Formats: sequence, C-alpha cells, structure tokens
Amino acid sequence: MLQRPRRNRKSEVIRQMVQETHVSAANLIFPLFIVDGENQKTEVASMPGIYRYSIDNMLREVESCLKLGLNSFDLFPNIDEALKDKFATESHRDESLYLRAIRAVKKEFPEACVITDVAMDPYSSDGHDGIVENGEIINDATLEVLGKMALAHARSGADIIAPSDMMDGRVGYIRKVLDENGFTNVSIMSYSAKYASAFYGPFRDALNSAPKFGDKKTYQMNPANQQEALIEARLDEAEGADFLMVKPGLPYLDVIKLLKDNTQLPIAAYNVSGEYAMIKAAIQKGWLNNQRAITEVLTSLRRAGASAILTYHAKEVLENKWL
Ligand code: PBG
Repeated sequence: MLQRPRRNRKSEVIRQMVQETHVSAANLIFPLFIVDGENQKTEVASMPGIYRYSIDNMLREVESCLKLGLNSFDLFPNIDEALKDKFATESHRDESLYLRAIRAVKKEFPEACVITDVAMDPYSSDGHDGIVENGEIINDATLEVLGKMALAHARSGADIIAPSDMMDGRVGYIRKVLDENGFTNVSIMSYSAKYASAFYGPFRDALNSAPKFGDKKTYQMNPANQQEALIEARLDEAEGADFLMVKPGLPYLDVIKLLKDNTQLPIAAYNVSGEYAMIKAAIQKGWLNNQRAITEVLTSLRRAGASAILTYHAKEVLENKWL
C-alpha cells in the first residue's frame, strides 16, 4: 500500500497539523432572552443552563461573555401578553423592553456586536410572524411593520438587523428604509432558508410566542426542499443582505453547503433551541459526552460552510475552554 491515510492520524500533533476546520470565539453568536422587571433570571425549562434575564442581569451576562471573548449577541424579548396586539405595535414603541435592552447594551458595551431579531411573533397576539387576516398571513402589509421595527432597532444602536419572518421582499424593504434614514452602515443578516421546523419548540416556550392557531408553513420553508433555498438566497442577496442564514443548523448541513457553494456572502447557521435541548437531555442522562458532542456539532456547522454560528452553547464552550 502506498497510500495509508492513517499515517496522518497517528499523533495528536499531526492530527492538529492537518485539521481542516476550526471553531473560534469569533465565529460564535450568543442568543439572549430578555424579560421585563429587575433582578430577574429564570431558567427555560426545556433549555437547561439558558435563562431569561431582566436588562440589569443581561448586562452582567454580556459583561461575563465579553471577558471570554464572546462579543456577538442576538437579543430576543419575552413580551407580556397584555402588550401584544394584531399589529405588533409594541415592537416599535420607543420605551419597549426590547429597544431599552438594545440601548442599554450599546451604552455600556459599545464594542459588543448587537444583532436584533425582526419578526412580529413575540409581539403578536396571533403568535405569527405577520399580520393575520381571515386566518391568512398578509405579506405586503407586514413589510411596513417590519420596516418600523428595523428602523427602531437601528435608532437604538443595533449593529446587525436579522429578519427572521420569511415574508417575501422584506430584505429589500428593510434595506431601503434603513438607507433612507441614514443607516447605510447597519447590516442585514437574513434568515434566508428558514424551515418550518419542529426544533423551535423550546424557543417558543422561552418567549411564550407559539402561534395561537395553525402553523408557520405558509411562510417558513418545507423541510423537504433544497432548491427552494437557492431561490430565497438569490433574492436576499439581490435585495442587499450581508449574511445569509440557514436555520435550523444540524439537520440542514446540506443546505448550508449548498448556499456556501452558490454565494460569496458569508453564511450563518442557527443551531436552534431544539438542537440544544436534544443534546442537553442526552448529556443529563449520561448518554453523550458533553465536550465531545458539543464541539462536534459546532465543528460540523463550520465544516459545512458556516462563518457564524448562533448557538446557545456559545458561553459554555468558552467558559470550559473547549475550543
Ligand atoms: C421567530 C424566531 C424563531 C426562532 C428565532 N426567531 C421561532 C419561530 O420561527 O417560531 C427560533 C430560534 C430557536 O429555536 O432557537 N421569528
């Protein structure tokens, strides 16, 4: 035998020398859940180790992440049911929890990269990502709400706006609103291929944002489709997106790779709440090894082509020095 691939695996030094993919703190984005009030920190039942923080405690959490070299955060609000309505007006009210949270982080830690979620669901009395009329999600009227929300985020200091709603044309609409208001430097990370997935369950528990009727299949993508992801990616790129996101992550590695091969834009992957819950449950039962399972997942997402990974594991992998 002339070729013995095992020679390149014979020692730790050689294995590291030929390693093709690396994950570092710079690749990670940490999602944070925010609630109203003071000194709040409540664990999400289906996401052990992940909490909803009031703004004061969120700032302390951001501070401890920054010390670990974790510099990017994606904020998600848990909104009081009484503040929700059909048009998600709370999403662009100046003194809302979410806008106060963005301003607080950027004021105390201007160097932190704040990513904001643009979608109606946490503020919608229907629990949908768009305006509902006669049981249907209305696309074009929703764009106006998304534009107001994105502008409010930009005014509050957001570095990157991340529309997660899957309405048609929203990237172009948001880009135009931002540019017309002088926010040409605010980036857009588009959830391009966002699938109608069972893996968002724990996130909807965390935010109490589950749809009040039906499902999200008329706007989020069919998990069986790959080519359709290319249509979405092409449109988002043409409409001015700076990043294209695939979500969920691990069940959609092929889609990450496909987009990577078909665009020059950086790809983000969202290692979602259900993926986190699944891994944590197995670890708690002693069925998987903590460090190895988690780093393998993150490495796989990078290997498939993701530059950025949104993951609830971000802090623990750095705290434990697993990278
Ligand atoms: C809402 C949104 C969802 C997630 C991010 N933004 C849930 C949904 O579409 O219902 C899911 C994130 C996760 O599961 O970790 N627009």
